[in-house]
Amino acid sequence: MLPIRLFGDPVLRTPAEPVTVFDRELHRLVADLTETMVDAPGAGLAAPQLGVGLRVFTYRVSDEEQGHLVNPVLHFPDGEMQDGPEGCLSIPGLSWDCRRHEHVVAHGQNMYGDPISIEGTSRLARCIQHETDHLDGVLFVDRLDPETRRAAMAEIRNADWAGLSTPMIKASPHGGGPYGPNVPMRNAPAENDPFGLRR
Ligand code: NI
Repeated sequence: MLPIRLFGDPVLRTPAEPVTVFDRELHRLVADLTETMVDAPGAGLAAPQLGVGLRVFTYRVSDEEQGHLVNPVLHFPDGEMQDGPEGCLSIPGLSWDCRRHEHVVAHGQNMYGDPISIEGTSRLARCIQHETDHLDGVLFVDRLDPETRRAAMAEIRNADWAGLSTPMIKASPHGGGPYGPNVPMRNAPAENDPFGLRR
């Protein structure tokens, strides 16, 4: 299991790059994502959560509904929406109700570069939307209604993991910053936007 980047880490706010090379390194990434997601445990994990800026995620909402998707493009076949609790391994231990499309069709590739599609309903649809958001630097707290979001931000600020940096950032030679001694200053959030939500 690899360390999962936490809310406040700039990599979670950085749009990921499309995958163009389907090599052993990508296969390794899919294996790492799968293993860490299962061990966490979580219903999905996107590459930026492991600090990798590539458009790849894994999902596992049931034994029948699990896999991975590279370079996802989402389509919503109808306007039906769902409300329900959502959480994120980068915001551990917390969850809030989040509105999502009920049905999604995701086109993309598998790790060998073959075109694949996934049709999702209910929890799988929610998971696919959540993980694809991660690849665009979007977190589900961004999609909460304003009141819930205010409450969520307060809970996040008070979480016992708030402000913790992750091992790879700790190893950085840069100094200073509100998220620990070694967060590079150029990525440090603005004082009036401590969680980077407005970027
Ligand atoms: Ni997440």
